Amino acid sequence: RFYSVIPAGGIGSRLWPLSRADAPKFLHDLTGSGSTLLRATWDRLAPLSGPDRIMVVTGRAHRAAVEAQLPQLTDANVVLESEPKDSSAAIGLAAAILVRREPDVIIGSFAADHVIADIRGFRRAVVEAVAAADAGYIATIGITPTEPAIGFGYIHCGPRLDIPAAPSAVMVDSFVEKPNLVTARGYVASGDYLWNGGMFISRADVLLAQLGETEPDLLAGLTELAEAWDTPRRGAVVDRVWPGLPKIAIDYTVAEPAAKAGRLAVIPGEFDWDDVGDFAAIAKLHSGGRKSDLAILGENARVLADASTGIVISQTGRLISLIGVTDIVVVDTPDALLVTTSANAQRVKAVVDALKLSG
Ligand code: GDD
Ligand code: MG
Repeated sequence: RFYSVIPAGGIGSRLWPLSRADAPKFLHDLTGSGSTLLRATWDRLAPLSGPDRIMVVTGRAHRAAVEAQLPQLTDANVVLESEPKDSSAAIGLAAAILVRREPDVIIGSFAADHVIADIRGFRRAVVEAVAAADAGYIATIGITPTEPAIGFGYIHCGPRLDIPAAPSAVMVDSFVEKPNLVTARGYVASGDYLWNGGMFISRADVLLAQLGETEPDLLAGLTELAEAWDTPRRGAVVDRVWPGLPKIAIDYTVAEPAAKAGRLAVIPGEFDWDDVGDFAAIAKLHSGGRKSDLAILGENARVLADASTGIVISQTGRLISLIGVTDIVVVDTPDALLVTTSANAQRVKAVVDALKLSG
């Protein structure tokens, strides 16, 4: 009954100039494993749902790249968006299509761009989440916070649930998406909160009902799309309905209200998890937490380094020489070069915003 959904749409603007509109974060190998993040996500999910039960929701522009990464992906499992409408529409459409094909389907949506090394620990958590979904809950997977990050959802854990096949499942008392720094500090200090790992597991009909309570127009649009999806009318209905859908993240439309209604459960994850949100995170991933290394990524990278630490990502093969610089970040792509430091990694997004403003 389980079906995996991979929404693959975020641009990852903190990873500019590596991550671009035409080559977003999930299409890059950030771990040096030889697999893109999307491919690694697929490989984690295939043993859980079966490779023929993984749906990918992505932009039309990424179709060729996604299909090249995932040769087993069939047409029935690809949902292409004409423009990004954020995660409520992306995951909601997958749910609406799948529930028509299989009324009691349980779906799990998993971000396309996270790094998880402990695959067995990940699978154990998902198996429990599916059991909680079977019991009627919308289940999330929680991550033990290590810092008051403001880019995540925060889950306040309530009492333990009594679900035999999900012994670690806990009721969620409240869910707060992207709190401010002061609030996040309080949450982390209290020890009662988990980060939201960006995974939602539930019956598709339960997810859609919750979505419809907050966003009835979105649900109506998704239902219309799903009814036409497996018919020749698909193209015309997409062109008419998709552009008008509200653009909003699922954390606001489903997770926060479901927590208020007592329908959100969390499985505390016992595995490593990294959303590799900026270059500092990538550097850390490659140095194993040590600050004494220089990580070099890129098949043709040529780097001459003396007394330097940090990370170099090279797409060009141009010779890069570093002398006596620490915690440096160098990203060399054919048409743009970024030089910064790990401490400033979060500020890269501002460059992208400035570029957008200047057209
Ligand atoms: N297809 C599609 N279309 N996918 C999308 C779109 C879209 O328009 N927008 C976002 N996504 C996908 C992203 O590619 C990612 O896989 C997932 O939906 C989550 O979106 P992000 O944009 O990465 O969200 P976030 O990182 O700000 O926050 C979410 O993830 C955090 C963990 O990494 C939230 O769920 C937070 O609560 C959570 O802590
Ligand atoms: Mg993200």
